[in-house]
Amino acid sequence: MRKVRVRLGSNSYEIQIGSGLLAQTGQQLKGIGFGDKLVIVTNPTVKGLYGDILKQSLISEGFKVNILEVPEGEEQKSLETAGRLYDELSHFYAERTTPILALGGGVIGDVAGFVAATYMRGVPLIQIPTTLLAQGDSSIGGKVAVNHGQLKNKIGAFYHPRLTISDISTLKTLSPRELSDGLAEIIKHGVILDGEFFSYLEKNLDKIKSLDDQVLEGVVSRSAEIKAGVVEKDELDLGLRNILNYGHTIGHAIESVSELKVWHGEAVAIGMIAEARISNKLGRLDQKEVSRLKSLITRAGLPTEIPDLEVEKIIQAMKHDKKILQGKLRFALPKSIGNVFITDEVSPSLVEQVLVKGNEET
Ligand SMILES: NC(=O)c1ccc[n+]([C@@H]2O[C@H](COP(=O)([O-])OP(=O)(O)OC[C@H]3O[C@@H](n4cnc5c(N)ncnc54)[C@H](O)[C@@H]3O)[C@@H](O)[C@H]2O)c1
Ligand SMILES: [Zn+2]
Repeated sequence: MRKVRVRLGSNSYEIQIGSGLLAQTGQQLKGIGFGDKLVIVTNPTVKGLYGDILKQSLISEGFKVNILEVPEGEEQKSLETAGRLYDELSHFYAERTTPILALGGGVIGDVAGFVAATYMRGVPLIQIPTTLLAQGDSSIGGKVAVNHGQLKNKIGAFYHPRLTISDISTLKTLSPRELSDGLAEIIKHGVILDGEFFSYLEKNLDKIKSLDDQVLEGVVSRSAEIKAGVVEKDELDLGLRNILNYGHTIGHAIESVSELKVWHGEAVAIGMIAEARISNKLGRLDQKEVSRLKSLITRAGLPTEIPDLEVEKIIQAMKHDKKILQGKLRFALPKSIGNVFITDEVSPSLVEQVLVKGNEET
């Protein structure tokens, strides 16, 4: 098992990464000294796969466990779901000290985290991410949220878990598309801050795809460590965390114009290539680095070009994006693999150029 410490003063906590950790969760939580009541929030798919292992581990340590189910899907990240969970928590007599265990992907992590942050002004949260996207990215950083109308992820809080348990053996039941989707943010962490990690991913991609335990453990740990390092320096997203938005200025717009048919990691992958091309056109990033990135993204099973979407609509969606700054779009762009810079000086016409022309170039 590897451990990544997230240093945030009184909000500090540990991320544990390893194979078979679910079965030891009871012991871990006993060690922290929680009371005897716990709530698991999960969805039917994850409950079917991992609910029993987790529940047994908790029951065998004497915990009383209540499982609350949220149906599948992004649309469940809503105030209605949160409202229903508040009712169920209250029905179960959950108290301020009753921990909520978020067992699932990013959707469960976000909505259960939001409920943990707000029920009784905050109850202890344990993140147990089960997708590669959640283990390598979304469960780290304390952003918990629901969607509301056009406001995606905008009703939320910064709320850190007391402990995060990333059991990499849960990744074995993901579909190849889900695994690839999670790789996008992991690749992003290499591009923005760690060229050596990027090279490691290039060398070990086949082992990641064949779910080699040791390699997966290393990759999830390093990805978590990189994100934690940024979050430690900018917990409330007032500056440095902007670099995590590499690939997202364009990616978010693709995701929303596609009406979520293009998944988050897939949209970020397309966004990373388009934004690398922008950096190349600005004379900051070598064409060789753009090609390296494109090659790794392709090998990871991710798309590299916008699907059948209107470029004009993508540009419009970007203008609505939160990163709009006094009429200018904010971009985090790579200047080499492992280094990034922030700029507000990218014109919509340059974006249009890379999105349209991108289809013909390398
Ligand atoms: N809070 C953040 O900082 C942050 C960052 C990035 C993304 N997100 C959010 O994360 C969400 C996307 O997360 P996601 O990609 O994990 O999606 P998800 O939670 O919808 O999970 C994807 C699918 O995998 C299934 N699943 C989960 N674990 C599984 C397992 N071990 N085996 C088999 N199937 C499994 C789920 O039931 C679901 O159908 C979005 O809502 C996005 O906004 C949040
Ligand atoms: Zn993202």
